[in-house]
Amino acid sequence: MEELGEVSDDHGEWSTSARCLSPEEITKLKNDVNIVTEFKRNKFEKEAKKNWDLFYKRNTTKFFKDRHWTTREFQDLIDEPEQESHKKSKTVFEVGCGVGNFLFPLLNETNLFFYACDFSKRAVDFVKENAKYDESRCKAFVCDITEDDLTENIPPHSVDIVTLIFVLSAIHPDKMVSALKNLKTILKTDGCLLIRDYGLYDYAMLRFSPGHKLADNFYVRQDGTRAYYFSTAVLSLLMENAGFQVSHLDYVKRETINKKEGLCVPRIFVQGKFLIKNS
Ligand SMILES: C[S@@+](CC[C@H](N)C(=O)[O-])C[C@H]1O[C@@H](n2cnc3c(N)ncnc32)[C@H](O)[C@@H]1O
Repeated sequence: MEELGEVSDDHGEWSTSARCLSPEEITKLKNDVNIVTEFKRNKFEKEAKKNWDLFYKRNTTKFFKDRHWTTREFQDLIDEPEQESHKKSKTVFEVGCGVGNFLFPLLNETNLFFYACDFSKRAVDFVKENAKYDESRCKAFVCDITEDDLTENIPPHSVDIVTLIFVLSAIHPDKMVSALKNLKTILKTDGCLLIRDYGLYDYAMLRFSPGHKLADNFYVRQDGTRAYYFSTAVLSLLMENAGFQVSHLDYVKRETINKKEGLCVPRIFVQGKFLIKNS
């Protein structure tokens, strides 16, 4: 996983759905046919929580940068206009909050109320120990969204906005739909789900060496944490199967600087807003 400094928007340089690959990149992907053994795949799945907890033990709060782009990219996170300020402020549930790089800038910029969860206890402890953690504005708790009952911590159908920022990609593809369905238990029927995640042919996907492939577009990093790289078609199908409809979904293309290697590299993300489908 790499945390890179973002420098500029791309204005259509990569013209296809995600981006055009060079002949070398196409060869690299075509040659990477060997899938990690079933034994190891099961081990990575069983140890997913432990591996993320060890990630935060090693990196503490120093790995991810604060996400200051969120209100620019997601208008729903902007407070209601002043004339409507008599309205109760919106409630957000930040899933897979890590150490709070999404949560804390928003606590500062808005009046929203936040629930935040992560299945790494260490990450949640970092959030709660942060001087900016304000119990009157947020509640952080440990929870695995693929199996835990969210209503133990959040009243049913009480949340306006659920955010998944680089989180769905860390979940095994077979469990993504059930995890998304779980989120519907706490989301208001007119609420929305906001996602930003890794996109197909992102620079980081092309960097995996042989021996890291778990399934199509799903890889394991050196530290045992995993990442799925989404096409908009796959993400929209997952959402559909979980009972959501697409309000907006697109690729976000950025160029970032890898300071270590002095390289300017193409980052591809998927970003979308989804609503609960009327049944
Ligand atoms: C790439 S990090 C992103 C952290 C944070 N959202 C951010 O943008 O800085 C992915 C996070 O998802 C959490 N996560 C992965 N699977 C999860 C699950 N099943 N339930 C809850 N959290 C999970 C990990 O512990 C990790 O903190």
